[in-house]
Amino acid sequence: MERLDKFLCDAGIGSRSQVKGILKTGRVTVSGAVIRDGSVKVDGNNIYVDGEPVGKKGRAVVMLNKPMGYVTARSDENQKTVMELLPAQMRNWDLHPIGRLDKETEGLLLFTNDGDLLHRLISPKKGVQKVYYARHEGTATGEDVEAFQNGLTLRDGTVCLPARLQPLGAGESLVTVCEGKYHQVRRMMASRGLHVTYLERRQEGALTLGDLPRGAVRELREDEILAL
Ligand code: URA
Repeated sequence: MERLDKFLCDAGIGSRSQVKGILKTGRVTVSGAVIRDGSVKVDGNNIYVDGEPVGKKGRAVVMLNKPMGYVTARSDENQKTVMELLPAQMRNWDLHPIGRLDKETEGLLLFTNDGDLLHRLISPKKGVQKVYYARHEGTATGEDVEAFQNGLTLRDGTVCLPARLQPLGAGESLVTVCEGKYHQVRRMMASRGLHVTYLERRQEGALTLGDLPRGAVRELREDEILAL
């Protein structure tokens, strides 16, 4: 048994103060009776807000089309974080970013409240492929493509797994990697003299951004989660 107000917060109904207001205005029923007192103990059954049943949030995976200027962190004292882009109803879902995008990188960033899924998706052993669009100085050549295929060694000696470089023309390429080392794509490109000026993650496994606008968030469907 747990407190009704805590149950409603954990279910993503709102913050503590929002839940207090919702209770006060008589919008919550438990087994048919209006309950305004958040300290009432509940077992999670027969709880309704505005006539809609409320359950604890089960496994959730959420996709954000990250704009530049936000750091991938749960909190930061000085900088805006990706958590601030999640809508209010998702703030209590205990979501964690899956991997990270640099502050200036845009595009597909997933979050989940499922620890096992999180670890599976960031493990290089699982080889989940991530596709990036890069604008960069110079033009990628066949030699660069081959160097990526063979597994690059970065300037600090870090060895990368084989990756795919697809030149799109002058100053533009797609890069596909299956690991998530610090600044990986930028450092791989820099090791070939192709300094990245803009980076966007477009795909992770089978998932693409689709028509999700920049800055927007959507919850994945169960079939999309299974495909991950
Ligand atoms: N590689 C990078 O260099 N930056 C990112 O944000 C993601 C991959």
